[in-house]
Amino acid sequence: MVMTFVFSLLLLLVGPAICGGTFSDLFQPYWAPQNVAVDDDADQTKLSLDASSGCGFESKKKYLFGLASMQIKLVEGDSAGTVTAFYMSSDGPNHDELDFEFLGNVSGEPYLVQTNVYVNGTGNREQRHTLWFDPTQDFHTYSLFWNRRCVLFLVDGIPIRAFVSKEVSGIPYPRSQPMGVRASVWNADDWATQGGRVKTDWSHAPFVSTFRSFQIDACDLLEDGSGTEVVTRCTESGQFWWDKPEFDGLDRHRNRQLRRVQRKHLVYDYCRDKLRFSDQLPRECVA
Ligand SMILES: *[C@@H]1O[C@H](CO)[C@@H](O)[C@H](O)[C@H]1NC(C)=O
Ligand SMILES: *[C@@H]1O[C@H](CO)[C@@H](O)[C@H](O)[C@H]1NC(C)=O
Repeated sequence: MVMTFVFSLLLLLVGPAICGGTFSDLFQPYWAPQNVAVDDDADQTKLSLDASSGCGFESKKKYLFGLASMQIKLVEGDSAGTVTAFYMSSDGPNHDELDFEFLGNVSGEPYLVQTNVYVNGTGNREQRHTLWFDPTQDFHTYSLFWNRRCVLFLVDGIPIRAFVSKEVSGIPYPRSQPMGVRASVWNADDWATQGGRVKTDWSHAPFVSTFRSFQIDACDLLEDGSGTEVVTRCTESGQFWWDKPEFDGLDRHRNRQLRRVQRKHLVYDYCRDKLRFSDQLPRECVA
């Protein structure tokens, strides 16, 4: 079981791009295309934030379960006030969303990785981690794994967060809304860096993050794909590798990795924020 999981992920994360594609095969800009620099030949797409705008790209298709992965090299030097995001999101008011948000910092100070899960329009499920490397010096692989039982946030194949379904206890879990895969760079200096105390220094613009090695191995909706029969195709059990029992959760090895990361790198967990949730912690934290 351990081997299968490790093997599958290795294949997907470091192997040849068996389910990858060029940027243009998979994605298109959705915000400020003038700030999205695509170079398919070099397998490299750069997103720039300047005083006029941030920018972003999204997958051409929507997906229901699977794995989405890309390598990112984050804004170097002074990145204070900026956020680089890699996420999946559905559309509409009661949307589901799975977020990686990389919170920039002044030169020499560490980035934080914020993750969040929205279900049916409600988020407020933030965790924050430090990283065990400088994410501005090299490309690293960030992945979102998603099936009916759990969502995993992975950094270089190591789980940093598991959001496990507790639907049996009546707690909402994202499993019926297809999501697009997206990335963006934007100004968030009202909150991102040191609690919003440090603002974006526009004299250091443009702020550029680079993306490559795009891989999406997920059940895609055909055509416009909102029809229920298409959703059924993706949710029918047993069809895809991520439906197999060994992907229902973390095996012992991955559980150990996760616990180690949580011990060493977790700096904020909404489930422990009694000040913020003074009345009552969110239900999934206590169930
Ligand atoms: C989603 O939220 C809306 C209200 O915003 C509610 O009416 C609906 O029942 C919720 N759906 C699920 C599946 O929880
Ligand atoms: C930025 O650096 C400061 C000082 O080291 C640290 O407290 C903070 O967590 C870092 N990250 C962000 C996003 O503010």
